[in-house]
Amino acid sequence: MPETTRTKTNLHALDIRSPHDCGVVIFGASGDLTKRKLLPAFYNLFVDGILPKHFIIIGFARSEMTNEVFQELARQAINEFSRRPIDQGKWNEFASRLYYHRGHYDEPDSFHSLQKLQSERHNNFRSGKNWLYYLATPPSAYGDIGACLKQTGLAEDHDAGEHWSRLVVEKPIGRDLDSATKLNRSLAASFDESQTYRIDHYLGKETVQNILVMRFANGIFEPLWNHNHIDHVQITVSETGGLDRRGGYYEDIGALRDMVQNHLLQLLCLTAMEPPHNLGADAIRDEKRQILEALRPISSEQTNQYAVRGQYGEGLVKGSAVIGYRAAEKVAEESQTETFVALKCYIDNWRWSGVPFYLRTGKRLPKQCAEISIFFRGVPPILFNANPSKPVAPNVLSIRIQPNEGIALEIGSKVPGPHVAVRPVSLDFGYSSVYPAGTPEAYERLLLDVMLGDATLFMRRDEVEAAWSFITPILDGWSKQPINDFPNYMAGSWGPATADELLFRDGRRWRRL
Ligand code: BG6
Repeated sequence: MPETTRTKTNLHALDIRSPHDCGVVIFGASGDLTKRKLLPAFYNLFVDGILPKHFIIIGFARSEMTNEVFQELARQAINEFSRRPIDQGKWNEFASRLYYHRGHYDEPDSFHSLQKLQSERHNNFRSGKNWLYYLATPPSAYGDIGACLKQTGLAEDHDAGEHWSRLVVEKPIGRDLDSATKLNRSLAASFDESQTYRIDHYLGKETVQNILVMRFANGIFEPLWNHNHIDHVQITVSETGGLDRRGGYYEDIGALRDMVQNHLLQLLCLTAMEPPHNLGADAIRDEKRQILEALRPISSEQTNQYAVRGQYGEGLVKGSAVIGYRAAEKVAEESQTETFVALKCYIDNWRWSGVPFYLRTGKRLPKQCAEISIFFRGVPPILFNANPSKPVAPNVLSIRIQPNEGIALEIGSKVPGPHVAVRPVSLDFGYSSVYPAGTPEAYERLLLDVMLGDATLFMRRDEVEAAWSFITPILDGWSKQPINDFPNYMAGSWGPATADELLFRDGRRWRRL
């Protein structure tokens, strides 16, 4: 039965989709992700009236805590991180659905007692027999939790598929192809792929979903969307922030694994993929996988030609002095971890033959933004473009993922006056001016989709592994070369000079953001 009802009252969409009664178990209930993202997202879904009537959350973690303490922790988290302030009436109702269960991730007994709590709550609150298990723990605990859920019989769909059991996992899914394959295999030992939802929160952002709408719901772009008309594509995700107490995690990961393997490659896939034959989860994910498989491999010997890495030193970001990466908590004094990556990639298929895709991301850059810029080919060097010393700027279509979400098209215009001069101007669509009600947070959309069983915005196992196949040789190439120039960019700058050279060599430059 479809879990969708049509209504005109929703400001965000024509379809309000409402899941069946269900419960959620959050493993890692006292952690950062639970506080910053999960509890605020569930609260906002609750306030929007989207959660099912019978719904509970059970927080599962190792620390000792009563239900009341967990509810208080949730209240503080929502106060601090929710896009909406707390409404006392709504909060009381929401809080009454929060429970805490202390347990160990590798002890079957802890899962037997969880099961007992689930069925007690099920009887009292009729939250249904549908359960979403969210692993907000380090990946090292995934295998144990999966195995215990399976052993307790909690991992299976029941009643001939009428009642579901779903698993949500966060990145990082592995640290290279080998470990990702092993991790996926261990998840698959407990949950079927159709029950497994791998989160990439970029896919939950409204503007990221709009990439497909822009491409396939408009007639004017797709005929131009190929190597005949597009010169190159730039994808930038820049952050002003540094580590934010995440040194322990980041030091072992670096920007290539943290951002490129997932978020940037997903943006590239949506920009480059062929039209899917329908909007179903598998049709879309098949097309994305095709792009990942068509990425021209960068062998470890070619790494320096196609990839640049950087690490920030101290500097000024938005007018404030900040420390360098190596001075941050839980970071080695001689750390070799990259906080900046720039890549030049090619997609070896018919549509994108010869079109470079330049990707860059970094921490402590001058601006917080994520943008995809499509640079169209220039006009012939005649008429307005006849003077080689003053070339007419090419048309650029930029998709602003965040902030100031929107789409802009730069076109040449005549500067008023007796002389003929061409200047680029921007035709600009801003989300907030057209949709002032604002957009939900990525996690709200993604959690709702898991409850609805819609896997479109989640990474399938083969996609994750195809992305690692591309990334792993770059990691290998880097691991063979000692670094002697870190830190090689100042906090508050646009990364190392070699990132600019990557484009200069091709007669191009990074777009000013
Ligand atoms: C996370 C990374 O996946 O994405 C973080 O682990 C990064 O290092 C974050 O800061 C960026 O997400 P957003 O939504 O703030 O752009």
